[in-house]
Formats: sequence, C-alpha cells, structure tokens
Amino acid sequence: MNTTFIKDGIYWIGVHDYTTYMFEGCWPIDQEGVNYNAYLIDDEKVILIDTVKEFMAEEYIENIKSIIGDKDVDYLVINHMEPDHSSSIEAVIAEWPDVKIIGNAKTFPMLQNFYRVHKNLIEVSNGETLDLGGRELQFYMTPMVHWPESMVTFDVQTGTLFSMDIFGSYKATVGSIFDDENEVETFLEPTYRYYATIVGKVTEMAKKSLAALTPLVPSIKTICPSHGLVWRTDPGYILNLYIKLANAEVEEGVVIAYGTMYGNTRESAEIIADELRNCGVKTIKFYDVGRTNISYILADIWRYQGLFLGAPSYYGQILPTMENLLYKLEGNKVRNHVCGFFTDFSWSGGANRVFDKFIQATGANCPAEMVNVKGYPTDEDEKKLREMARAVARQLK
Ligand code: FEO
Repeated sequence: MNTTFIKDGIYWIGVHDYTTYMFEGCWPIDQEGVNYNAYLIDDEKVILIDTVKEFMAEEYIENIKSIIGDKDVDYLVINHMEPDHSSSIEAVIAEWPDVKIIGNAKTFPMLQNFYRVHKNLIEVSNGETLDLGGRELQFYMTPMVHWPESMVTFDVQTGTLFSMDIFGSYKATVGSIFDDENEVETFLEPTYRYYATIVGKVTEMAKKSLAALTPLVPSIKTICPSHGLVWRTDPGYILNLYIKLANAEVEEGVVIAYGTMYGNTRESAEIIADELRNCGVKTIKFYDVGRTNISYILADIWRYQGLFLGAPSYYGQILPTMENLLYKLEGNKVRNHVCGFFTDFSWSGGANRVFDKFIQATGANCPAEMVNVKGYPTDEDEKKLREMARAVARQLK
C-alpha cells in the first residue's frame, strides 16, 4: 500500500513499476522505473481518475481501500485508454460493480474492444462540466496526445488538472511524488525522452491541445500527470517546458548519431566531432546507434539544434540500426535542425540514397553536401567532413 494525500480530498493512488523492461515494448524503462499515477477524490462521492497497469491492479485496489474503507467507488474517469492506465478497469468493476465510467465518444468503443465493458457509461464532450456530488469536474479533449480518445480532467474547486500523459516523463518518483521534494532537473532528460518517443510524432496536436488549455492556465494550481512528478508548487515549470517541447524549440548543441560495422564510419564521426570542437561547440552527444536504444538519441535530437547522421551501406540499403532511427525521425521530423549526413560505400553504396530520401521526406536543412566515403576516410574525405562540420556549426545559434 502506497498512497499520498495531495490536497482537499485528492489522493495519489498510483504505483511504481520497476519491473517492466520496455515501455510499449519499445522504450527502455531503466533502473529508475516509471510511475503509473492514478488519483482518487474522496468527497460526497468517490471518484477515481484513471487506473494502472493490470499486473499491479492488486496494489492499486488496496490503495483505494486504504483511503475509502467500506465505501463504494461511484465514478471512474478514463482520461486515456492506453493499457498502462486503463487495464485495471476490470479489477475496479469487479470490486465496485455499480461504478459509473466517464469517458468520451472515442473512449467507449475502445473500452468495448479492450475489455468488453459497455455498461454504466457517462459520455462527456469537450468543455463539458459534470457536478459529481458538489465536485465540479470539467473535461477537455486532447486528441492524439497521446491517443485519439485522450482527454484531461480539471477539478474546478481545487484548480487541479489531471493531465494524463501530458506533462509526463519516464523515471519513477522515489519517496515523494511532489516537485518541491525532488530534484526537478533530474526529470528533464526523462521528460525529453518521454516526449520524443511518445508525443514527438503528434507534436502539432500537442500544440493544439496546449493552446486549447490556455484559458485554464491562470486557474491551474496543481498538475497531476499520469507519469512522473505531481506539480503542486511550480506547475509553470512543466507548462513552460511543454510549450518548448511542443514547439520543438532547440538548444545549442549537436547530436552525432552513427552506425558502424568495423569502425570506418565512426572515424568519420570522430573527424566531425573534432572539427565541431575547433568551432567552439561544447555540447556534443555522440551515439553509436548499434549500442544505444534510439529513445535516448531521439530525446537529444529533440533537444539540440545540430544533427549529423552517418551509416554504412548494407546490401544496397543502409545499416538496419540507422534505418530504425530514420523511421522514427521521419515521424518526429527535424524541423528546426541544421543537419549533415555522411555514409560509407561498403561494397555496394545505397546508404546515400536512403539518406537522400530521408532529406526529401523531412525537408532537412543541410548547409553542405553529404559526404560519401569509400572504406577508411581519405585526406580528401577528411577535408569534406571538416567542411561539412564547419558549415553546420556556422548555422548553430
Ligand atoms: Fe501513459 Fe499513452 O499512456
């Protein structure tokens, strides 16, 4: 059992997951774990806001009972149907069969498909307010952040925004869920990584959702997301960070991400890094795509303005580890970046054609031509790689 009183009848009833290895089967949950935050309002009526991943349902139900004892749960608000937040719905219904489930028109078909639940449903629409035993809850649709049915819930009485995935991060909270009792800066990288992997592809929708929530901002006192910290002291910090993330605002710094089979492409990458240092670039993130899960690389690409991508050709195409990064990057786009590309011919060429397609698809800003090396970089190749590095450095802020 592990609950935390937040304020005015609101409790955190979430769980810490230190055992799942891959979030969504793709993104590593490292030793820091991840929170599935869920909340309870104990007032005239008992209201749950979201659930947790099914394998931790028992702990979640115990958390609820430790607060309400023998009382019934009256309402369950489903802000988001992704199973990390919805898959304990059946456990809630099993415990409190008369619970009324609040969602929107897009929630309920999923509820039927995922869990065969179709009774006691209350549908809300964008901006609608429900009075639940004197507690006014407002609902705002935030489609595609992160799924089509996503919405947020605002408790008018306390100024609390239950924001589901929005404002969330990887990294479980330890000891305290609150921003003022944690080193907020340690959540920065996990927030970037969460955004780049989960929201990056739909960042235009995130911008729209944030714009739609703007009128609420002066009334927001506390932000309770589905992952990461509860922002009770400085919600402006995460709001401003999210505006920056949604607008893909980049900072000074360069990511060099390369794939290599036998080190030749790494040599090119090192030449570029050396020249960037000569140009005074201090922040250089240097990644071998074969050794690093792409979520960490995507996070830094979302954050920093400069980007170099390099890989050898592979059976007439490109090294598969780089292809994987390109696939996700094409969705995220590289809208505010300054880019450089370099390849190795291997025995067939092909990586250059894959990069060309990527450049066309994303409109990547490349101030210098791609450098195509055959085997180990020659003196002439090195000259071109250094020229490319200088051309990118000149455009960095
Ligand atoms: Fe944390 Fe989109 O679920």
